[in-house]
Amino acid sequence: MRYAIVLLTLLAACKPEVHAEVHFARGATAVATVDVADPAGKVGAEDVTVYEPYELRDISFRGIPAASLLDAVYGPKWREAQAIALVALDGYTSVLPVSRFLSHKAWFAFARKDRDDFVLDKKVPRVETVSIAPTYLVWDSVKDGVVRADGDYGWPYQLATVKLTTFAEAFPGLAPPEPGTPDIASGFELFTHHCAACHSIDGHGGKVGPELNAPHSVTDYWQPQWLHQWIDNPQSVRKGTPMPGLPANVPQRQKAIDQLILYLKAKAH
Ligand code: HEC
Repeated sequence: MRYAIVLLTLLAACKPEVHAEVHFARGATAVATVDVADPAGKVGAEDVTVYEPYELRDISFRGIPAASLLDAVYGPKWREAQAIALVALDGYTSVLPVSRFLSHKAWFAFARKDRDDFVLDKKVPRVETVSIAPTYLVWDSVKDGVVRADGDYGWPYQLATVKLTTFAEAFPGLAPPEPGTPDIASGFELFTHHCAACHSIDGHGGKVGPELNAPHSVTDYWQPQWLHQWIDNPQSVRKGTPMPGLPANVPQRQKAIDQLILYLKAKAH
């Protein structure tokens, strides 16, 4: 009998216990730390099947509905915030508009249903297996065509910190000067989503493509109609260019291009 108890205790000790600690903050102020795998009565976990944009197939996860967890942590007011910064263990930060969480369904996933280790066998951008603990933000890419078409946009893994923020706070060097207009603000949001990974403004942003504002803004030396056509369809201006156009599924796409150009103009020196 005693041996049986010892054996059971040993077995229980061997079973890996899942902990998935996520820190929640409002700006720089800490609000709560939640073990998403055991949120102590806050919200229940669900099984969810999504089309996973790195393994490129349907995968089932165990996760907590994001909107319910955000309600439990922040109260309903988070819905009026502008943006949510999602910070990975290594500090890599993705910033999503709050509207994305209001119009699409997401989960903080903390386990896979089909295997014990919480990893992804990535196929893109290269073949590698990466740990995704403590949490992985997954979206309803099976039923929701908009999310599916956006690929890996908004799927941070090793997600450990969530912050309510504003675009201006999250991208200080990229924010347009005050006072702006709603179109410039939309252009700024579009730029952070679709352009900033490759392009910098005054040195802030990606390095894949050329700087767009220093020492002179592209809006100073590109003719407006050619700039519009370039963002719409770069290949129609310069054959063989590696730049992708603004994705085809962006809502009100022609207006979005005008807003991007208004934003670039607002940033010009
Ligand atoms: C995947 C990376 C990538 C993304 C995303 C991207 N670009 Fe580019 N962009 C490039 C590269 C590379 C070039 C240089 C292309 C060439 O010389 O043919 C370029 C060139 C440009 C130029 C011309 C710069 C010059 O002075 O010649 C503009 C303007 C531009 N991009 C704007 C944008 C805007 C606006 C967006 C977002 C809607 C965007 N790009 C998204 C990679 C990217």
